[in-house]
Amino acid sequence: QSSIPLKINGKEYESNPEYTNVSSTILNLCDRSLHLKPSHPVGILRQLIEDKLNSTDHAYTTYANFKPVVTVEENFDSLGFPEDHPGRSKSDTYYVNDKYLFRTHTSAHEMECFSNIKGFPKYEQSKNPTEKPGFLISADVYRRDEIDRTHYPVFHQMEGARVWKRTKIANGEEEPQHIVSLREDLQKLKDQLANEKMQIVVEDDTSLEGNPKQSYMTDLEVELCSQHLKRSIELVVAQVFNKRLESMGMESVSNLKVRWIKAYFPWTAPSWEIEVWWQNDWLELCGCGLVREEVFKNAGYEPESAVGWAFGLGLDRIAMLLFEIPDIRLFWTLDERFHSQFKAGQISSFKPYSKYPGTNRDVAFWLPEEKECKPIHENDLMEIVRNRAGDLVESVKLIDSFVHPKTNRKSLCYRINYQSMDRNITNEEINDIQKHVREELVQKFGVTLR
Ligand code: PHE
Repeated sequence: QSSIPLKINGKEYESNPEYTNVSSTILNLCDRSLHLKPSHPVGILRQLIEDKLNSTDHAYTTYANFKPVVTVEENFDSLGFPEDHPGRSKSDTYYVNDKYLFRTHTSAHEMECFSNIKGFPKYEQSKNPTEKPGFLISADVYRRDEIDRTHYPVFHQMEGARVWKRTKIANGEEEPQHIVSLREDLQKLKDQLANEKMQIVVEDDTSLEGNPKQSYMTDLEVELCSQHLKRSIELVVAQVFNKRLESMGMESVSNLKVRWIKAYFPWTAPSWEIEVWWQNDWLELCGCGLVREEVFKNAGYEPESAVGWAFGLGLDRIAMLLFEIPDIRLFWTLDERFHSQFKAGQISSFKPYSKYPGTNRDVAFWLPEEKECKPIHENDLMEIVRNRAGDLVESVKLIDSFVHPKTNRKSLCYRINYQSMDRNITNEEINDIQKHVREELVQKFGVTLR
């Protein structure tokens, strides 16, 4: 079969009929770089976090221009994802071909950024050598997912990481140099946290039961590294949520409750997630952990030569809460009534300019019998709607599902909510979209419409 090359961000890629599932919707979104716009909520948040983390010891190189297409190796293999991890499937990830995909997280660039750091073997040949022991990567990331007010196939993450080169204890020293540095670096963070207007009240899960450390690290290294990681993230939380309160006119010292929960990621151990108590609910903010040695080795490091941490933080959901943005599609609008409301360095509340009425349409169908074809993945249905309706679709929800007692066939009914953020929609245009969605469901999945 002959394949048509795909041109993405100025580069050509072979397409592959078995793998390629990236749509024109995605191709049209992949050079918007919202995180680089100084007065876009996502860009404002990125800048606030970068500035805060670099205010302690200027330890972080910032990367914000990585292109979204990466190799399967970078996104999954180098991070120790098992072969059968669901994240690798075509129903969850946009593939360009069998080797390239749209990154599903900023961790895809960890290996490269670790190899740029001075003191480690690849530094000399690196195209972007840096003396800083840490980095912050912000970028757009891509996932095939459901459609609702908080999910969009493109969103933004910031990756943070920090390493300490391990040293042997020298004559006359009480502790190896890297332990001394870790202690000093940690103390600076603690001092800074103590001076914040927003005081973070922490419920910390430090037990390593069910969340084991790596054997090459000493207990002391684990202790100091984990604390440095957790205090760094708490500093970000203090900064961001304090900015929010300031903009609401509250100037006094206040408290914010956070808790650390055990987690699992293939490339960190131990791992955690932080949750913040905000508007009467625990809000999950970011995943993190101590970097596994495999990742360091993949970045060219000698065995057991480094200790360090990494975190990955989703910018869009935090921005939605802080700026009071009711629908994630607003981030992508070109409407000046949205963009004129925000200023670099400030977290202000969004004032809806108008709520345009929506309309919904149901689509009900019998699934084909299982022997006749593969089961439909819900994300594939979402993709059909997304590609037909673009940003006119607000949400798609399964509202009914049953199995016919006699024929054993399964019926599903989805409700599609259509609504525009920027204008009134007409019945005619929605009917036309709906007609195409229905036809495509029949063509692609062999369903029988009801
Ligand atoms: N990449 C992870 C995610 O997308 C977050 C993460 C980053 C976790 C770094 C641990 C370390 O959920």
